[in-house]
Amino acid sequence: MATTLLASSSTDGASVLVSITCDDDVVRFRHGVRAAAIAAGLRLIDQTKLVTAASELARNALEHGGGGQGEILPSATPGHSGVRLIIDDDGPGIADIDGALADGVTGGSGMGMGLPGSRRLVDVFEIWSEVGVGTCVTVETWAS
Ligand SMILES: Nc1ncnc2c1ncn2[C@@H]1O[C@H](COP(=O)(O)OP(=O)(O)OP(=O)(O)O)[C@@H](O)[C@H]1O
Ligand SMILES: [Mg+2]
Repeated sequence: MATTLLASSSTDGASVLVSITCDDDVVRFRHGVRAAAIAAGLRLIDQTKLVTAASELARNALEHGGGGQGEILPSATPGHSGVRLIIDDDGPGIADIDGALADGVTGGSGMGMGLPGSRRLVDVFEIWSEVGVGTCVTVETWAS
């Protein structure tokens, strides 16, 4: 694990927690996800898909959620090994989740591809959001 990751995260051995409050944190999260994906034996293409999804979701937590945190864990799905990510924030939440998951829908200045694009890149994609409470997205990519 990179020193820079350790410096800004806590770990209990099985999981890594990265606070997401600035652009550098998004980079640190990406690096942590890449390291976990390699350690889990993901193919290069799947490593890259997961890192891309992680980047989009962390950026959403930062830009739309006012900052949050990203957790890197082993897959929790029976019968599958891989990497699980939980990205959450205490921001304004998403009123229309179905709309936000549609291609090209943005409440800001982006392309509106972050959520739908991420969903297509991973094996598990779950989103919870409540207006005024926050947003939590869980994804998994499996090695097998
Ligand atoms: N963590 C979040 N908190 C609050 N709103 C969110 C969050 N994530 C996404 N949204 C809402 O859902 C919309 C769609 O998100 P998505 O990532 O698909 O597009 P975008 O961030 O607007 O643009 P892009 O990711 O393509 O740059 C956002 O514009 C925003 O309104
Ligand atoms: Mg986005």
